[in-house]
Amino acid sequence: MTAIVPATDAGLALAATALREGRPVVIPTETVYGLAADATSPDAVASVFAAKSRPSDDPLIVHVAPGLLPRPRVEGLVTLGVVAEDLEPAQRATADALVDAFWPGPLTLVLPRGPAIPLAVTSRLESVAIRMPAHPVARAVIEAAGRPLVAPSANLFGRISPTTAEAAQSELEGRIGLVVDGGRCDVGVESTVVRVDADGGLGLLRPGAVTRVDLERVAGTSPYDVQAAEGIAGSPGRLLRHYAPSTPLVIVGTGPSGWQEPRWADLRRRLAQGTGRLGYIAWSSPSEAIRIALGGASTDLHVRTLAPDGTVAEAAHSLYAVLRELDELKADLLVVERPPGGGGLADAVADRLGRAAHGTPPLA
Ligand code: TXA
Ligand code: MG
Repeated sequence: MTAIVPATDAGLALAATALREGRPVVIPTETVYGLAADATSPDAVASVFAAKSRPSDDPLIVHVAPGLLPRPRVEGLVTLGVVAEDLEPAQRATADALVDAFWPGPLTLVLPRGPAIPLAVTSRLESVAIRMPAHPVARAVIEAAGRPLVAPSANLFGRISPTTAEAAQSELEGRIGLVVDGGRCDVGVESTVVRVDADGGLGLLRPGAVTRVDLERVAGTSPYDVQAAEGIAGSPGRLLRHYAPSTPLVIVGTGPSGWQEPRWADLRRRLAQGTGRLGYIAWSSPSEAIRIALGGASTDLHVRTLAPDGTVAEAAHSLYAVLRELDELKADLLVVERPPGGGGLADAVADRLGRAAHGTPPLA
């Protein structure tokens, strides 16, 4: 049985006790819910990999809170043993600037690993990913546990990250004991992950709410894309298919090229071969074009809108809840409109959708 407890003093005490005893607990963060465990205990870390059915070559993020750090900035992380002490001056300067600007918040820094972090956390890498979440409940749990916590997203490996306590519970039911309820996650997509190189350069490993423009403004250097520069090998855990519903998902453009008839003929064909049930995810306003394009082929059309207010922040906030809800329909197919360009958080949404769609043939 997996219980949800409110984030009261009693709920936090239960969570802290479980964590200190080496048991994993789901906690809210401002990005997505995380499956937390003692980052300094190889056994606790192993139970996180087991509960998620996560392969051991996909490294975890270590979560810290202000109350754990005896000193500010990177020096605090070094003292805690999370980060190695022999950072290059330029590397330390860039990391300090990013910590000052974005912590607590949805930014994860990859730095040389310190002695308190077992190799099981980093999948045997000599680097470690660290973040300080902004969610007050995450902070309270970390401080009550009194140690850094690993916290991968609280989903089974490869699936959609949960953004509510109920979604985390249904995802990990029977695999873990406790979910601390912190309400619906504000940001809705996982943190930006950036590697701070020895020369102070920045390698972007995963786009998120802290954008390229934000990073460049603070670090004074433009981040490069690690996956483009180094391939999959440079980006541990960045699989092409990830964040995925069980229902096949395709992305369509909404410009003139997106609405071309051959694509819709292909869609009608796929529905005719299945049950005819279709989930359609519109970006800002549900378009009549889908109904017209279907021409009566689907009598079982379920339309959802990601961003009724038209903002990318709203779309990111609701993305995983909408995908999760439509996945439960057991439709033949989910169709989602391509996010608008323009960089920023839209890059993060496009990244997650691209990985969710990987492996489903696009509409031809
Ligand atoms: O927003 C988040 O970051 C959420 C919340 C719960 O904090 N956590 C999260 O964790 O998304 P997870 O495990 O689902 O994603 C961690 C990813 C890995 O898959 C990998 O891509 C990257 O972070 N990562 C971790 N350690 C790394 C390292 N040493 N080098 C490069 N990438 C690393
Ligand atoms: Mg994840």
